[in-house]
Amino acid sequence: MSNNESLLARRKAAVPQGVASAAPIFAARAENAELWDADGRRFLDFAVGIAVCNTGHRHPKVIGAVKDQLDQFTHTAFQVVPYETYISLAERLNEAAPIGDAKTIFFTTGAEAVENAIKVARTKTGRPGVIAFRGAFHGRTALTGALTGKIMPYRTGAGIAVPGIYHAPFPVAHHGISVDDSFAHLEALFKSDIEAKDVAAIIVEPVQGEGGFYVAPAEFMTRLRALCDEHGIMMICDEIQTGFARTGKVFATEYYDIEPDLMTVAKALAGGFPLSGLIGKRDIIDAPAPGGMGGTYGGSPIGCAAAHAVLDVIKEEDLCARADKVGARMKERLAEMKARPDTAAIGDIRGLGAMIAFEMVTEKGGNTPNPAVVSKLVAAALERGLIILSCGYWANTIRLLAPITIPDDQLEEGLDILEQALVAAAS
Ligand SMILES: Cc1ncc(COP(=O)(O)O)c(C=O)c1O
Repeated sequence: MSNNESLLARRKAAVPQGVASAAPIFAARAENAELWDADGRRFLDFAVGIAVCNTGHRHPKVIGAVKDQLDQFTHTAFQVVPYETYISLAERLNEAAPIGDAKTIFFTTGAEAVENAIKVARTKTGRPGVIAFRGAFHGRTALTGALTGKIMPYRTGAGIAVPGIYHAPFPVAHHGISVDDSFAHLEALFKSDIEAKDVAAIIVEPVQGEGGFYVAPAEFMTRLRALCDEHGIMMICDEIQTGFARTGKVFATEYYDIEPDLMTVAKALAGGFPLSGLIGKRDIIDAPAPGGMGGTYGGSPIGCAAAHAVLDVIKEEDLCARADKVGARMKERLAEMKARPDTAAIGDIRGLGAMIAFEMVTEKGGNTPNPAVVSKLVAAALERGLIILSCGYWANTIRLLAPITIPDDQLEEGLDILEQALVAAAS
């Protein structure tokens, strides 16, 4: 029995099925874009812990910063004895975020950041309602799960239909949903379900992550901002999956001509260490009273040390430009794979920067989602040494999230494997 096999058996016996793993392998070590499993097999990692290690596994600067912090102190709780690195990290994010005069608070997980964004919006406005979008993903806690716009598997059976939360369709042109359709639905919601004056916030991902890497059209974001302004609603951009150079900018919101009121960040912020944050306009994020926000581990000194290093690396290694280069090469190769007669049928290819996805469809040139081929393709890639992830409201999308620091030869190697897997999945 291999180590992977024995670990799989132990996992099944000891860990609930609710936490599913995309790959039936177990990590032993990882370096930048490479990962070795418990059997000693090497993989290229085009998932990096779901868009977390944008700076690669174990970036030397991140590891160095964490080691230095370990030698000083590991935990005091910012709410008990605060520390400078939390403040300086807040200052850096206030400066970087497209929010204007901002303040930042730190938490541990993305879901916690979203929970607190809603808390701030409700406290500021005194209103209960929140609108999210179909296909959105905002977390798995009771509140964030209710905001998540897909029932199976995130909400099924849990009964988390929280009062005051509504969903509108996210515009996806090639699936027949226009920006006008989304706004017609929002107006209908205000007419039939909740008055606009009772809505505290509208939360939106500039590029839907788990939903399928659908990029929000510029017109959509501008109109959403105007709608929020018209009704005094807080606009929240969830940048948890899109942030920190993944899309070719530090924040995807920078692509739009808007300023959100609040912005949630996590994942790549600390390059593999648990840290999340909520950035907000000063007069809004200050709404909760002292003690109303926080958490024992929120803004851990280890996470803050790692995040400082991540921000340094993004600048020093010009990762925004590199993301554009990596993504452009992916799109070029995917277009070639799509054109081959012997690959499984690829539909839309899309994304921003190095946040790239493609849809699997039932026939070449068609647009009908083919979710059945997705697990076959993911398994075929893994068999050949490449870790990829599926996603999508229609469950037919493959997302490519290679570290932005991936060397060119490993990017080509990974794409070669993907091409072979697409051929294998066709039969
Ligand atoms: C856009 C977005 N929001 C929120 C979350 C939840 O973050 P976490 O899993 O750290 O709670 C995720 C996680 O995938 C995400 O992609």
